Formats: sequence, C-alpha cells, structure tokens
Amino acid sequence: MTDDLAAQLRPATADDWPAFYRAMSAAFGETPSGPYLDSPPPVAEMDRSLALWDGDRVAVTAGIYSRSLSVPGAVVPCAGITWVTVSPTHRRRGILTEIMRRQLTELHEQQREPVAGLWAAEHPIYGRFGYAPATFRGNLTGRTERLRLRPDVDLGAGRVNIVPAELYRAAAPAVHEQVRRFVPGNLARDDRWWDRLLRDEKEDRDGATERQYLLHNEPDGTVSGYAAYRVKSSWTDRGEPDGTLTVEEVRGTSTSAYASLWKLLLSVDLIRTVRAPMLSPDDPIRQLVTDGRALHVSPLDALWVRLVDVDRALAARRYPAPIDLVIEVRDEFCPWNAGRWRVSGHPAGGYCGRTDLDPDLVLGIEALSAAYLGGVSLATLHAAGRVTEISPGAVTLAATAFSWPVTPWCPDEF
Ligand SMILES: CC(C)(COP(=O)(O)OP(=O)(O)OC[C@H]1O[C@@H](n2cnc3c(N)ncnc32)[C@H](O)[C@@H]1OP(=O)(O)O)[C@@H](O)C(=O)NCCC(=O)NCCS
Repeated sequence: MTDDLAAQLRPATADDWPAFYRAMSAAFGETPSGPYLDSPPPVAEMDRSLALWDGDRVAVTAGIYSRSLSVPGAVVPCAGITWVTVSPTHRRRGILTEIMRRQLTELHEQQREPVAGLWAAEHPIYGRFGYAPATFRGNLTGRTERLRLRPDVDLGAGRVNIVPAELYRAAAPAVHEQVRRFVPGNLARDDRWWDRLLRDEKEDRDGATERQYLLHNEPDGTVSGYAAYRVKSSWTDRGEPDGTLTVEEVRGTSTSAYASLWKLLLSVDLIRTVRAPMLSPDDPIRQLVTDGRALHVSPLDALWVRLVDVDRALAARRYPAPIDLVIEVRDEFCPWNAGRWRVSGHPAGGYCGRTDLDPDLVLGIEALSAAYLGGVSLATLHAAGRVTEISPGAVTLAATAFSWPVTPWCPDEF
C-alpha cells in the first residue's frame, strides 16, 4: 500500500455513518436495512473505526468493539475486530494489511486489549496476520423422531414457560451473566449487545416465525434458564408435517433447567428437524440424548483469536496443570512478540516474561493464538508441524497445561 493511501485512513464520525454503512453493506453484498441507516447503532464505537474516502464515497471500512472475553479461568478485555471491507476499486493493494497493522500496533502501544478476536468471512484472509480459529460452532441438526432425552435425566421441579420478548429481555441477561464467565470464548453482553441480539427484523427470518422465547423457572420463581428459537413450517407432498425448529440459544444454570428447555425444544408439534447452528460442537445436549448419532455435528470455525501481546495474554489466563516452560514465538507481523518467553502457570494464576533461556518449544503466533482458549491442542498443532519440540516431553506438558475442561465456544457473531 502506498504511504499516501495509508495516510488517508482515519476514523469515521457519526455523521459519516450513512456513507460508511452503505460501503460496508455493498462489500458484503447486502442492501442497507434496519433502524440504523442514518446514525450508528449503540454498539458502534466510531472513535475506533477506520475509513478511507474516495471522493464522497467511502471505499474502506473497519472498526473495533471493546468486548470482554472469557478465557480459561479469567475474563480479559478483547478488541472485537469488525466492519472490515475494502471496495473492489481498492482491493489487493495492501489496505487490509495496513488496517491490521495499525489496529494491532495501536492496541500494543496503548496497552489496550491484550487479545483481539474476529469472525472471518473467508478462512484464508486472517491467518497471515496471526489470527487463528480458537472456537468452533457445531451446526447441530437432527430428526425429532430420533431425539429423546435419556430416561435418567433429572428434569427437576421447575417449569418451562413461553414468554413475551420483554420478559425474556428482562430475565435472560442475569442467567447469561452467571454462566458466561466459565465458558472460554463467551463474550459479556451489556444492554446494547442484548438489544442488538434480540432485534427481530422480518427480512432476517428467512421465512421462519418471529423469535419465540422460553424461560425456565424454579418452583420459587427464580429464572434458571432461557432459550430462543424460530419455527419454519413445511409440509411434504404427501401432506405430512415437516417443520424445522432452529434453536438460537439455550442456557441454564443447572442441568435440570437446561434439559427441561431441550425437552420442550425437541417436542414441538409439526416439527421434524431441529437445528442448532451456533451451539458448541461439544454441547451437553449431545450427552443428554439417547441416540447421540442422531444429532449430527458439522463444526465450523467461529471466533478467531490473535494474541496482541503474548506476555499480557498468557499471564491473564489460568492453567489447569502446572507449567514452567520457555517458548520461542515467531511473529513477523507484530515483532514485539517475537523471541523467547518464560511461561509459568497453575490453576490459580499465570506469568509470562522475557528470557534468554533456551526454548523448550518453538511456535508461530497463529498456533499460540489457536491454543489460547484451550480448544485447539498444542499436540495437534505439533502433529501438523506447527509446533517444534526442543525439549523431549515439552509438547505433552504444554498441551496439557494449555487445555481447559470446558470446550471454548462463542455464540456471539459480530
Ligand atoms: C477481504 C478484504 C478486506 C481484503 O482486502 P484487501 O485490501 O484486498 O487485502 P490486502 O490487499 O491487504 O491483502 C493482503 C493479502 O491477503 C490476501 N487476501 C486478501 N483477501 C483475501 C481473500 N478473501 N482470500 C484469500 N486471500 C486474500 C491478498 O491476496 C494478499 O496476499 P499477498 O500479500 O500474498 O498478495 C476485501 O477483499 C473485502 O472487503 N472483501 C469483502 C468483505 C469481506 O470479506 N470482509 C472481511 C470481513 S471478516
């Protein structure tokens, strides 16, 4: 990219939003729609945006959301990279590369978020900048006639209620707040994010109903779970019902709440197929049904992660087994991360600092970022030639210490 073009990249303002949004929509092949045509939505942080103008048209867009990411044993600030588009008139001139460099350099120099995350429109775009898939979504799907809960599942004494959107909006956040900290990959949701999540525009429904809401109440009235879903009716040419129920989210603070919500979701009349595209490939529902093979799983990459600062990021998470190793990190794109780091950690804390000691492992920033949330094994990355073992046994030690009992998962696309 020429220095001239790079110098023209600057934050957009709220007044720029209509042109900014138009450019972004065009690059994603969409028509601008919804309530935020004229002014930015509440989740927007225009001061963290970047734009490049071509006359009175915006040709390049990018942004960052300030988010909180659950990581193994902790919650860390995370720069949620978003709005990344380069118009066909400006593509393949290094503008995305310049955006990536500018964002990561600023995060590092200002000591802001130690970790960045994004959802990739296409897999080959972001690896070169050090991002890697760190969570996966399961794309679960099954036929209802084969999906039954195990008879030994304790459904408790609570009850599932179909509720209006307002009641759900009032009650679900407290449940989410209780559970999200314990699931690496989950993101905190404040009111702005809940409002965004629960927007229900007709054009986004793909022929299905408006969103339906469930709450699970304990006998004393406490809300201990929630679920959101849509139904799309269909009939075979023999007149048989063949509807599809798409689960958007199910969360519970107890197994009985979770299972009770699923019991209802699996038993809605006229439904033959249940889909849950955003749930974890390791979702507990797979252990709750009698016929696990009837619930097909086809995982896809979800939240990608990039360590902005290796030391701050590795010190922020916890390690389920003791670790004290020297890793040598290769990171050409963010040279401040390159070199040898002593990583020590245990279930209650972590430390990472510069060292001159000989390395036990050598790996690239992509591999380290993939393993950060505990869902991609360093042993698998080693088997793929992306981690080099110098000290015998170091891969096994590091793979164990970097793992985590809860599979990372992110249901929040942004
Ligand atoms: C993806 C996009 C932002 C790339 O912008 P760009 O300015 O053309 O990217 P750059 O010129 O900086 O490309 C850097 C490198 O990445 C490669 N690259 C960029 N986009 C790619 C893609 N979609 N698939 C494969 N490689 C890609 C380039 O070929 C280049 O490789 P090279 O250095 O080996 O030549 C742009 O094509 C776009 O807006 N696409 C549509 C919207 C979109 O997908 N946005 C991403 C949202 S997550």
